[in-house]
Amino acid sequence: MLKNNRSIPLDQFINKALYDKSSGYYFKKNPFGKNGDYITSPNISRLFSEMLSIWTIAFWENLKFPKKINLIELGGGNGEMVLQMIKTFEKFPKFSNSCNFFIYEKSPYLKKIQKKKLQNYKVKWIKSFNELNNEPNIFFANEFFDALPVKQFIKIKNRWAERYIEILNNKSFKFVNKFTDMNLIEQRVGFKISQKQKIIEYSPLSLKFLKLISRKLKRSNGGILIIDYGYMNNMMRDTVQSIYKHKTNNIFLNFSDADITHLINFELFKKIIKKNNLKVQGITSQREFLINMGILERAEMISKKLKFTGKANIFYRLRKLIDNKEMGKLFKFMLITNKNIKFKTGFKVD
Ligand SMILES: C[S@@+](CC[C@H](N)C(=O)[O-])C[C@H]1O[C@@H](n2cnc3c(N)ncnc32)[C@H](O)[C@@H]1O
Repeated sequence: MLKNNRSIPLDQFINKALYDKSSGYYFKKNPFGKNGDYITSPNISRLFSEMLSIWTIAFWENLKFPKKINLIELGGGNGEMVLQMIKTFEKFPKFSNSCNFFIYEKSPYLKKIQKKKLQNYKVKWIKSFNELNNEPNIFFANEFFDALPVKQFIKIKNRWAERYIEILNNKSFKFVNKFTDMNLIEQRVGFKISQKQKIIEYSPLSLKFLKLISRKLKRSNGGILIIDYGYMNNMMRDTVQSIYKHKTNNIFLNFSDADITHLINFELFKKIIKKNNLKVQGITSQREFLINMGILERAEMISKKLKFTGKANIFYRLRKLIDNKEMGKLFKFMLITNKNIKFKTGFKVD
């Protein structure tokens, strides 16, 4: 719970709102769908997870068909993506027999929902990446990184200040700025994050996850496919937003009942990956990736046998996923692997 009359950095504030053990947003609420606050791609259409499954098999082929491979979803939500991927893989028995499914999930509330949905399938929930053996590991992060708390720094008269939130009575809040030593921050980050910036926005937890996963990939091979909404620009900006019942919400309102997220700066992720000595195979829009993987053809195929309303439903959902005004452009796919791998499937037409 928050204590009155003190101030905390923005990332701690977001952490309290979303992940407080007794009242945090993700610890008490199913945020997905009509009755929730937002909807994610796997819950819009199973075609999304089917395309990821086909891509996964192609990646496995590129790794020369390893006998065993681990597939790990970071932040499993309501378990829909893993469910649809397992169902798709059942049509490819050789691959299906090779893969082990894992979910890395923080919220006990969502874990329960995931376990119920996946009760008939072999999935293991892990608390640490050390539980994964050194078979090739493929991590999937759909809207995972945007859910991690961020810090913000702004430049005031040539000095850097960190954004804090002052907690007033009765859950009312205000921003305050506290001057800080950027050298210390940059030592922690590991590079000159402040170079040419007017504002800095980054997630210490994202850095930590990217480091742990990079270490794992170097030992075991594989990759991480990041799917998230974000932008490509060296200049960072303030992207923190709150969503409540499918509408934008002031981040100080509906504390712990509204989601708080940010956009991923993919240029920043590229710098972090370079520092971690891995390779970015590609970054492209959700539209390009899904079309390259054949989502239009698949939609045609499954809609053939359907009546008009069924067909309309499939294409309505497809549009949500790939239209540039919906999720097509803002959402991006980024694949990170070891340097010895060359794999462009999904990122350009094969
Ligand atoms: C925006 S949801 C996305 C869910 C799912 N991937 C989807 O596409 O529907 C973010 C998920 O990440 C989980 N999460 C957030 N922070 C986490 C952390 N530090 N460790 C593990 N899971 C986390 C949340 O509980 C939630 O399941």
